[in-house]
Amino acid sequence: MDYKDLREWLQIVSGFDELKVVKGADWNLEIGSLHELNHKENMSKGKLVPALLFDEIKGYPPGFRVLTNSLSSVNRLGLTLNLDLAGAGNDQQGLIEMVRKKMAAPSPGPVPPKVVQTGPVMENIDEGSAIDLTKFPVPFWHEDDCGRYIGTGSVTITRDPDDGWINLGTYRVMMHDEKSMGFYISPGKHGRIQREKYFSANKPCPVTVVIGGDPLHLILASKEMDYGTSEYDIAGEYKGFPVEVIEGVNGLPFPADAELVIEGESIPGDTKPEGPFGEWTGYYGSGMREEPVIRVKRVLYRNDPIILAAPPCKPPTMNSFFAGIFRSAMLRNDLEKNSIPDVRAVGCHEIGGSRLFVVISIKQRYPGHVKQVAMSAAQCHSTGYLGRFIVVVDEDIDPTNLHDVMWAVCTRCDPERDIDIVRNCWSGPLDPIIPPERKGFSSRALIDACRPYDRLATFPKVAQVSPALRTAMLNKWPELF
Ligand SMILES: Cc1cc2nc3c(=O)[nH]c(=O)nc-3n(C[C@H](O)[C@H](O)[C@H](O)COP(=O)(O)O)c2cc1C
Repeated sequence: MDYKDLREWLQIVSGFDELKVVKGADWNLEIGSLHELNHKENMSKGKLVPALLFDEIKGYPPGFRVLTNSLSSVNRLGLTLNLDLAGAGNDQQGLIEMVRKKMAAPSPGPVPPKVVQTGPVMENIDEGSAIDLTKFPVPFWHEDDCGRYIGTGSVTITRDPDDGWINLGTYRVMMHDEKSMGFYISPGKHGRIQREKYFSANKPCPVTVVIGGDPLHLILASKEMDYGTSEYDIAGEYKGFPVEVIEGVNGLPFPADAELVIEGESIPGDTKPEGPFGEWTGYYGSGMREEPVIRVKRVLYRNDPIILAAPPCKPPTMNSFFAGIFRSAMLRNDLEKNSIPDVRAVGCHEIGGSRLFVVISIKQRYPGHVKQVAMSAAQCHSTGYLGRFIVVVDEDIDPTNLHDVMWAVCTRCDPERDIDIVRNCWSGPLDPIIPPERKGFSSRALIDACRPYDRLATFPKVAQVSPALRTAMLNKWPELF
């Protein structure tokens, strides 16, 4: 089922009966807590998590809306990725496998964006003294945040000053006042590398933030794409047609059918305090720091604009849900690109926000196979940033089943022999266990929870009903199960 923009997406989702309109909520904490509780309460009861569209927000005109929980269901992920997920059912590995195949063998190949002169986002254009970010119902998300965050499910657009390629990244954006915003980008992210290139040449960095757009752009901008690849090209590939973009006043292209677009620039040395903000690890981990400011040059928005939001907090959340599926698919592909044989399945667990607890199951083929997998997973692009535990298990263990994984850790891992620590790896200010003076680096534990290679033939047998006996019993005594 094709959709062109966020409004068509909402219509289709409403047809799935997966959209709830909430009227009269307060931007101050109510939208934030309802977003979190909608996911956690419904998930814990095994219920569908609907998308929430907040309208008639306290103190704002009707029609100025905020959309949360957009990607909290398998159906909605399928719609957004242009994938028929009917075959995946409720099986998480089935879903990961479909996403993986789509990412590994994209068709028709990258589709560059098409430049157009106008589009719905130009219905309203504020410049100069008319610029006022406070006219939008920007939520105050978590109780201990430092302010209101306009960009959570947003897409920040920058251009590499050397090679000219356009990057789309999801980085949180705080509203400082009517005409300025702060943005936090972790070290090593593509947007930060580009920004640093401008700053080290003492030049302003043009920045455009798309506050409400296609949820597909949110997925792609928030996942680790190859350096030098524009997410616009990948979005076109997923859709099968080019993203229509308008060249902005700062030279950066933004989607013509976006809801709300903010154009500006970031000037070297121009910083303001940013944070604390509730983060994906489940803490206000990075506290308050000086971060670059975006000085707003122009604001464009559709009539009745919609803010697409994805605020983080202690998992499980919408973000850990869709990130877990995507990161698992990307890691599997990264391991394949490294020519590692016999990876059976992968689980990037929600408990670690998809990054901190990663499990890979393999069929062991040779001595050292396990270590090769663990070291690759600890450093490759999909899982290299802010990881913690990499667990490798045998093929009889489902890496998405935490109970089975921890059983394997408890019974096939001798800590003295089977856990390696790798120091000084890629981390950043968000890591809650690293004290402020050591932020930037963290370690990885590589946990070999496989049967020792040299004892594969002699390792004690597993004491549980065999598959054949299980099938026989289920068939004979169906009323028991
Ligand atoms: C909802 C959401 C919010 C995010 N916020 C930030 C953020 O504030 N800063 C950051 O560096 N990364 C953030 N990320 C992770 C990046 O978007 C992700 O690492 C992405 O690959 C960055 O793009 P880049 O590799 O092109 O820089 C967020 C991810 C999600 C899903």
